[in-house]
This record gives sequence, structure tokens and C-alpha cells, in this order.
Amino acid sequence: MTNFLANKKILLIVSGGIASYKSLDLIRRLQEKKVRVECILTESAKKFINPITFESLLGKNVYSNLFTLSQEKEMNHIKLASNSDAIVVVPCTANFLAKMANGIADDLSSNVLLASNKIKMIAPAMNTNMFNNQAVKLNLKSLSKMSVNILSPKKGKLACGTVGTGKLMEVEEIVEKINNIFSPKELNGLKAIVTAGPSIETIDPVRFLSNFSSGIQGYEIAKSLHNHGAKVTLVTGKTNLDDPKDLEIIKVKDAEDFYKTCRSKLPYDIFVSAAAISDWKVKKIFSEKIKKNKNEINIIFKKNVDILQNISKNKNKPKLIIGFSAETTNLINSSKSKLFKKGCDWIIANNVKSQPVFGSNYNQVSFITKKNVENWNKMKKSEVAKKITKKIVNFFKKNKLIP
Ligand SMILES: Cc1cc2nc3c(=O)[nH]c(=O)nc-3n(C[C@H](O)[C@H](O)[C@H](O)COP(=O)(O)O)c2cc1C
Repeated sequence: MTNFLANKKILLIVSGGIASYKSLDLIRRLQEKKVRVECILTESAKKFINPITFESLLGKNVYSNLFTLSQEKEMNHIKLASNSDAIVVVPCTANFLAKMANGIADDLSSNVLLASNKIKMIAPAMNTNMFNNQAVKLNLKSLSKMSVNILSPKKGKLACGTVGTGKLMEVEEIVEKINNIFSPKELNGLKAIVTAGPSIETIDPVRFLSNFSSGIQGYEIAKSLHNHGAKVTLVTGKTNLDDPKDLEIIKVKDAEDFYKTCRSKLPYDIFVSAAAISDWKVKKIFSEKIKKNKNEINIIFKKNVDILQNISKNKNKPKLIIGFSAETTNLINSSKSKLFKKGCDWIIANNVKSQPVFGSNYNQVSFITKKNVENWNKMKKSEVAKKITKKIVNFFKKNKLIP
């Protein structure tokens, strides 16, 4: 990930929960990214970890007491608030987010937050029942409305022994989210449609034709374009992935749904067709369940609508159209001819036989334009998404198409 954090000043507030110790790892990772970290511990946080551990890691004092600060005059709570580029609360207890949501300022950390107009991020972590409590939900909703960025907890085994939602987001992911906040929003003002996941073509009331697409690559592209400021709609088939935050998400089933949705959204600037759409559909869907008393059955499939080709032909076509090509043989030549036949600008090609692509977090792709072929190394799908985003940003900058 490109480091947008170097020399940024981050104020970390640690509140008192079982995950408080994870903030130490966060400090270490932020330091690796050359972040200048200041730290406030709530009184409860100090019950979980001794401040000396933080001070050793930071090589300086941590703050905690509102009144000691103002007596010293060297650093008051207003200064602590205004000196930072962002304030992050990791972990954020149910109690602390309730105070934030209601403007309570009864200790140093809550005073600093109230006195700050800087970027605010919180990573809640708590027992599942606490997280599902209506009061917590309402508080999180209020904070979201106040433009506080919420780094939602994950599902997993919690310290109290239960399994459910409430586990602190992985520290690595927290760093990535903080980094994204500072990424330049070069695609501001541009609209993008990204398709992802598999299509499902009905055969009879209980059976369907689909494929192994997990949707990971399309979701990563949608998130990356959003992180760079584009207004993104993700049109997705059925996947097991969490809905990305802050995107418009439209869930569809078959190729016809994908096409109708993508067409109805025109005009837009960027179209990334990463969904695995079935080339065929059943000519006539069986109205009843096909009985199993036959040794063989004949099902007639007919060609499905070609979304990429149709969007590329539309008079309101997007300024940049990117297709995906999954092949098992003759990857580059087939993908190149696809690019010309369908009239798109770029094709991202991958060989789905020589590597496990479906469901994997890794991908090895070739980036194909009308003039060039670049073979990219195997990398995480999130990295592929970032590289594609970089190409998209360069395209819009070079052609002076950014509004
Ligand atoms: C052992 C223990 C573990 C706790 N873990 C959590 C937790 O994970 N999340 C949470 O919201 N509260 C947790 N609490 C409750 C908070 O510590 C309590 O609400 C406290 O007032 C929070 O203070 P603060 O928000 O000022 O840091 C825990 C309490 C104890 C005794």
C-alpha cells in the first residue's frame, strides 16, 4: 500500500477494554509508517495496561489527566486537539462511544475530541450483546451522522468466550483505513460502476447455472476507486463478502439483471466489468423441477447478453471501459481479440487454469491495452485493484477528464 501517512500527526486515544493491548501494536505499525503519534489513555485503559509500556514504545509521555495538563500549560487539551491531523480511538469502548455521541466531556480524551474539528475514527470492540444493544447501535448511527469514521468490529471468538460480532478490526486493516483517509482523492467528481461476483442463471425452480467467482477482485476494485474519491456503485452477484461501506451496492442475479442495472446507470465515467457473467442461459426455464427418473436430459442453452459489448456500443458509453477475461488457454491472444471485438479500452486477463484464482486472495494478471501487454507479478487482489486504480487515475489525468 502506498504510504500516505509519513509525517502525519495522529492522536491515538486508548479506552479501557480487553483489546486495549492491541493499541500497542497499532503504535508500532504507525511508527513504521513514519507517523508522529501522541497518545491519551483513559483512566480505565490504565487499568488494562500500564502507561509505562506506551511511554517506552513512544519514547515520550502519554497523556491522561485533564487537570495536570492545564496546570503544566505546555500542552493543553485544545492544543492536543489542534496539533493532530486525525484522532483515532482504538479500541473504543461502548462507554466511550456513548460519550462521544452525546458530547460528554468528563475526562481529557473526551474533551480533546469535543474540541477538535479534525478527522475522527473509532474502532469499537466489545462483547457481542453489548455491540447489538440498541443504545450502542443508536450511538454508532449518531456518530456516523457526525462524520466519525467507524472501523466496524469483526465477527470472531471474543475474550468472553462467545463467538459473534464485537472483535476489534485487525490492526493491519486499521492502519490501512487510516492510510486511506489520507490518500489523495484524485477521482473526485467521477462516477464508476463496478460489477463483481457470479451470475446465476435459473434452470428450474431448484437448480441453476453459475460459476466459482468469489467477487473478491471486483469488491477490491470498487473499494479502491472509492478510496480515491470516485462515486462508486457496486453491482454484484451472490458472494460471501461483507458489503463495503459507503458504496451504493446493488445485488443482482442473472446476466439480464446485471445488464439492465449497468445500462440504467448510464451515463457514468468508468465501467469495470469484473463479474463472471455466464455466457449462456437456459433457452426456456423449466417451470417444474426436472424429475430424476431420466438417465439423460437435454437442456438447450442460448447465448446471454454481452454486457461489455453493449455498454461499449451505447451512445452514452463511459469514458473508460475495462473488461476482465478469464481463460484456460491462449490467454493473451484471446483477451486481445476480446478487447477489439467488444470495443473496450483495457482488458485484465488471467489464466484460471494455471493458478487458483476463484476464492483466492491472490491473482496474477496481464494488463492489456490496444497497444500494450504488461504481465504483472502475482500479488494480492487488493494490490491488483490499487494498480488498476493508479492506471485509471493516470488515464483521467493525462486526458484531462477530471472535472
Ligand atoms: C475485564 C474487563 C473487560 C472489559 N472489556 C470491555 C470491552 O472489550 N469493551 C467495552 O466496551 N467495555 C469493556 N469493559 C468495560 C469498560 O472498561 C468500562 O465501560 C469503562 O468504564 C470504560 O471506560 P472508558 O470508556 O473511559 O475507557 C470491560 C471491563 C472489564 C472489567
